[in-house]
Amino acid sequence: MVQTYIENLQEIQITREINTTVINISGRQRMLSQRMALLCVRLVCTQARSEREIWRNRLLDIVNLMEKCHQGLIYGDPSLNLPGITSPVIREMYFEPPLMVDQKVRQYIAKVRNLIEASEVDLTLENPYFCAIQKAASDELIDVLDAIVSQHEKESNAQLTILHKEQEYLYQKIATAAAVAQSQAQHLEKLLIDLKRSQLQVIHAEKMSSLGQLVAGVAHEINNPVNFIGSNLIFARQYAQDLLRILHLYTKHYPAPLPELQAEFDTAEIDFLYNDFPKLLNSMQMGVDRILNIVKTIKNFSRLDESEKQPVNLHDGIDSTLVILHHRLKNAGVEVVKEYREIPLVDGYAGQLNQVFMNLIGNAIDVLETQPEPRIITVRTEVKESSAVVVHVVDNGHGITAEVKAQIFEPFFTTKPVNKGTGLGLSISHKIIVEKHQGCLGCVSEPGQGTEFWIELPTGG
Ligand SMILES: Nc1ncnc2c1ncn2[C@@H]1O[C@H](COP(=O)(O)OP(=O)(O)OP(=O)(O)O)[C@@H](O)[C@H]1O
Ligand SMILES: [Mg+2]
Repeated sequence: MVQTYIENLQEIQITREINTTVINISGRQRMLSQRMALLCVRLVCTQARSEREIWRNRLLDIVNLMEKCHQGLIYGDPSLNLPGITSPVIREMYFEPPLMVDQKVRQYIAKVRNLIEASEVDLTLENPYFCAIQKAASDELIDVLDAIVSQHEKESNAQLTILHKEQEYLYQKIATAAAVAQSQAQHLEKLLIDLKRSQLQVIHAEKMSSLGQLVAGVAHEINNPVNFIGSNLIFARQYAQDLLRILHLYTKHYPAPLPELQAEFDTAEIDFLYNDFPKLLNSMQMGVDRILNIVKTIKNFSRLDESEKQPVNLHDGIDSTLVILHHRLKNAGVEVVKEYREIPLVDGYAGQLNQVFMNLIGNAIDVLETQPEPRIITVRTEVKESSAVVVHVVDNGHGITAEVKAQIFEPFFTTKPVNKGTGLGLSISHKIIVEKHQGCLGCVSEPGQGTEFWIELPTGG
């Protein structure tokens, strides 16, 4: 496309050059005719033969030149860069009455040739060729040659105006094409950045999902043996109770055992064992219950059966998340306050929603661990206008400046050190809440005033 524009522009340039040449040569022809008239006067007025020879030769040179120019202007001459007559108006001026320029120029040239060839005696002021040359040079020939020059100028100017317009049009086209190309390049660059980002997000999501699968797998593996211990504990307790009861009966009926047996009773501190053994079994049972609880929580947290939305209990999700984060919360000395209202189940993807709670509570811990006590995270739930539920995660951390707040949901925006934050937590959470659950995720924060993130999820009620 651009190649065509350049070719057009080159053509315009060539046309302009030709026009200039044509105008120059027709002007030159006019000048030559004047010059010849003057030389004719000299030829006629000079008496000396040798001098006359000089004027004859000069005249011959000029008349030849004038003829060459004339021929070139009409039929074209590559050596003079002349294309010949291209305009119908000029053709008419050359060949049709009233101007008949071609005929007049030829006649003029013929008269000059006749005068050059005239005999010495005929070279007088009364010579009819001489008179005709002087008349034509001062009068009709000059007028028609002027007419040709001005017609050439007129047509050239008109052509120039068209060419300028064309040039302007072409420049505009080029500018538009350049702008389009630039915006396409920018668009492509943006697409490339977006692609790179979504690639990283996919990797991140993939990592989270594999982590979830790993944790769920481990939980599943733990579940069986712990259940096994739990159910055996019931029999162990029963057997132990039976044995202790028999032992108790034995000591009751045989208060003075053999010395060897008495020594064993003493070593085993049998009275302490009576008391402590049931307690020990109780605490083993408590341990098993706790493990089972944790396993249940982990399984709940990393729910894998997520191809379709299911009714989700948000309180369970938040609780599981708090269990998973228990260690971090404890280490950072963070107190968690739960303010749960009665809320309905929400249709959604439990595992993904837990990931959001994890991001929000994780961010709050990140902030709180950098500052002095009290460190408090409040999780509040409520129903909003019977068609949505809202979860608030509030911390009493240092808050967020307006400048940072404007960017927190952008992928890869982080204020944390390189190895600590990837800046994906909130952008992924936003995607999960807004795109996957048609909800809203917002933030209210002022520097020094703590931070509140709120999630609103439709209940369809
Ligand atoms: N509770 C909060 N208090 C103050 N600033 C916060 C809070 N939550 C988020 N931010 C700000 O928002 C930024 C973006 O958070 P986001 O969770 O998206 O990324 P990150 O925590 O930096 O990294 P990642 O979560 O990927 O490990 C954080 O770097 C932090 O500056
Ligand atoms: Mg984060």
